[in-house]
Amino acid sequence: MPDMTNTDKTIKIKKIGIFDSGIGGFSVLSELFKLMPKANYYYVSDDANAPYGPKSDEFITERSFYIAQELIHQGVELIVVACNTATAASIDLLREKFKDIPFVGVEPYLNAYYQIPEGLQKKMMVLTTESTGKSERFKRLKERLDPDSQIDHYSLKNLARLIEDYYHHPNQDVEFEKNIEDELSFLKSQHYAYAILGCTHYPLVRKQIEKILDLKAISPCSHVAQRVVDLTTKTDEIRVLGPGPSEFFNFLSTTNNLWIQKKRESLLGPFKGK
Ligand code: DGL
Repeated sequence: MPDMTNTDKTIKIKKIGIFDSGIGGFSVLSELFKLMPKANYYYVSDDANAPYGPKSDEFITERSFYIAQELIHQGVELIVVACNTATAASIDLLREKFKDIPFVGVEPYLNAYYQIPEGLQKKMMVLTTESTGKSERFKRLKERLDPDSQIDHYSLKNLARLIEDYYHHPNQDVEFEKNIEDELSFLKSQHYAYAILGCTHYPLVRKQIEKILDLKAISPCSHVAQRVVDLTTKTDEIRVLGPGPSEFFNFLSTTNNLWIQKKRESLLGPFKGK
């Protein structure tokens, strides 16, 4: 029976930092809200520099260092790099530079193909940004988890940017649907059964991707959230009742560099229910 009198342990609210080039990390944050509703979240959207996809590793690493420093300044105890592109470019360097902070990254869930029983496997592809697709980290991951090259890979030039733009201009609904369809059209005739979503922006339009390409999409976001829980929660804390979850999360957009409180409920904006 855990010692419930240790108030330090029981009411300690965790502070979790999380960042992305823009709103893509919301697909991870929404999973974190479900698994760890009582934590305090500090989210940085580097929208002044989005998208990261076409940018160099050096630029993305410089941004990641700057953002990690800001999150540490806010007192976070763990940082989620909720961006495949930033994970590929900079997570090793972040871990080297900020030794006291655990970093959790996001990588395309390439384990998926080999988890399907032999004989039942169907055509699968992985979709990433250009920068992730070119990265050494992705190449190594692909060689390790897909040694027989069963999963085809495509880099999408515009999808993350389209999703980011739509979040900020949600009135352009019809145009948005059409742009997504155009971006994916070259994949339509190829009859894939599965698409691994290798960019955190993509799960925000998961249903559209599934509908346009008539397949099932696979996202790593719930696994990432589970990893954060494993790293931050001791087993005896799960039973603890402390203060209820805050209605808000802390949000910084690098376009104006101001921390504000946003309603958790408003997180997915125009993507809610999509
Ligand atoms: N959401 C990001 C990712 O997972 C970045 C997309 C971008 O900015 O190009 O790769």
